[in-house]
Amino acid sequence: MSDFPSFLSALRPEVDETLDRLLPDAGTEPAELHEAMRYSVFAGGKRVRPALVVLAGEAWGGAREDLLVGGAALEMVHTFSLIHDDLPALDDDDLRRGRPTLHRARGEAMAVLAGDALLNRAYEVLGREPAGAPPERRLEAVRVVGDAVGTAGMIGGQVFDLRHEGDLAVGGPAHPGTVGSLERIHRLKTGALIEASTRLGGVYAGAGTEGIEQLGRIGAELGLLFQIGDDILDEVGSSEELGKTPGKDRQAGKLTYPGLFGLEVSRKKALQAADRCLVLIEGLPSRGDLFRALVAFLVHRGS
Ligand code: IPE
Ligand code: IPE
Ligand code: MG
Ligand code: MG
Ligand code: MG
Repeated sequence: MSDFPSFLSALRPEVDETLDRLLPDAGTEPAELHEAMRYSVFAGGKRVRPALVVLAGEAWGGAREDLLVGGAALEMVHTFSLIHDDLPALDDDDLRRGRPTLHRARGEAMAVLAGDALLNRAYEVLGREPAGAPPERRLEAVRVVGDAVGTAGMIGGQVFDLRHEGDLAVGGPAHPGTVGSLERIHRLKTGALIEASTRLGGVYAGAGTEGIEQLGRIGAELGLLFQIGDDILDEVGSSEELGKTPGKDRQAGKLTYPGLFGLEVSRKKALQAADRCLVLIEGLPSRGDLFRALVAFLVHRGS
């Protein structure tokens, strides 16, 4: 199969079943917390990160069952990042995955705590499963995700993102945007978790140091491509297509690719990132066709 949307939709039920198994039931006390976690996790995200873990791991002969565990953990981390990203203190968004954001639906306190709980659950899962995997693989998985989420990863990237936000800039007036600062924001706030997805696949598959590094390089370029696309969609997409409110970046004065370069040059930059991915993909032992289809999907995506 070299059609990424078909791969993604065939994988989706497996990802959702794994998430369902690994999250506490909605009725388990404290029920309002577990219900809130599930509200956001099962709201209809694309599941790109779990798909990347599976794809990267299968390129190196990894077992689907193991890869789904890593994919589900990363989807928990990603969902936590979205819940907190939407809070009034950050992007102040009302719509996410086609539903009212969690703080709109269940209140800010539950949004903060459900985010915390999802992040923590991810590490519980990574440390515990796959039960049959060598303990050093689980340790490496925790390390990969910890590095990607941390102050030199997604959370650090969120701070750089805020630094450039119009009047809401943290630590004083907004910093002027440069190409370097923009690329840093995108590689960290979004790229780090996407890079962790491909690396994690390699870890579970036992791809070895060089194999994991190669997957990491692919993930890093995919991540940049992904966030340039997200910026473009914020300008040109509709709330029906995106499941979130478009036009927010410009309104908030965010530093984005279209904001700095305009749409046409942003599309060119996305294509350049796609070309860098395609070169790196040549070195994979298998699954090259699906990886190439993924790159095409990211270049052309409408949501
Ligand atoms: C949105 O990610 C936030 C970014 C990091 C750009 P996705 O576009 O993958 O969101 P879902 O998971 O499909 O909702
Ligand atoms: C999201 O970037 C990055 C993280 C959630 C870490 P955005 O703020 O652009 O994502 P959307 O557009 O709200 O999904
Ligand atoms: Mg944001
Ligand atoms: Mg946002
Ligand atoms: Mg965005």
